[in-house]
Amino acid sequence: MKDASSNDSSKKNAGYKAAEYVRDGMVLGLGTGSTTHYFIEKVGMRIKDEGISVKGIPTSFQSLLKAKECNIPITTLEENDIDLSVDGADEVDSEFNLIKGGGAAHTKEKIVDYAAKEFIVIVDESKCVESLGAFPVPVEVLPDASRLVIQALEDMGAECEIRMAKRKDGPVITDNGNFVIDAKFDKIESPAHLEIDLNAIPGVVENGIFSQMVDKVIVGTEDGTKEL
Ligand code: A5P
Repeated sequence: MKDASSNDSSKKNAGYKAAEYVRDGMVLGLGTGSTTHYFIEKVGMRIKDEGISVKGIPTSFQSLLKAKECNIPITTLEENDIDLSVDGADEVDSEFNLIKGGGAAHTKEKIVDYAAKEFIVIVDESKCVESLGAFPVPVEVLPDASRLVIQALEDMGAECEIRMAKRKDGPVITDNGNFVIDAKFDKIESPAHLEIDLNAIPGVVENGIFSQMVDKVIVGTEDGTKEL
């Protein structure tokens, strides 16, 4: 789990603001990360204080555990469509393209966020960029394919690293049992094309570019929020 202490008040402001868009009866996509942590917390508070009835579809074990802690009833994509998904990001550009996957949860996040009728992104100001690319693109891969995927990514001009775990020897293992390759491109000219091209490499499960699916971005600041 990523550290929830950095830019804490900005993340909290963004997460709490997004919870104001939750209405009684909604099915919610519950994103992952230290900003979404606050969204889930506030939804739990609204259930307790206002008696609203909602269900959540988590995007990771982290958001599942947080939702359970906050007494948010859990459901699945098998049973429900999603009214509203709220999720963090590692970068947001001026056209609302995203890089996600800093917490290795981007595969389930993409399934849930793309399926939602409305998708709100919550970030602090440090995540807002003119164009994507300072943050490497996380690419989830089947472990057996990792050498070949790295070769293909290098042929596309990326510098690659298999993401290593902290307090566990060896690579990060995703919630789906796979590796993550962090692929640093010099410049990302077209996020939409790169998103498609990366997924065309055999062995890639999903990549962390989310192109133009976002309805609203809530940027948390130390003393409030801005909506884009
Ligand atoms: C999880 O894999 C990511 O996509 C997160 O949503 C993203 O890294 C944002 O996380 P923070 O809110 O912790 O910065």
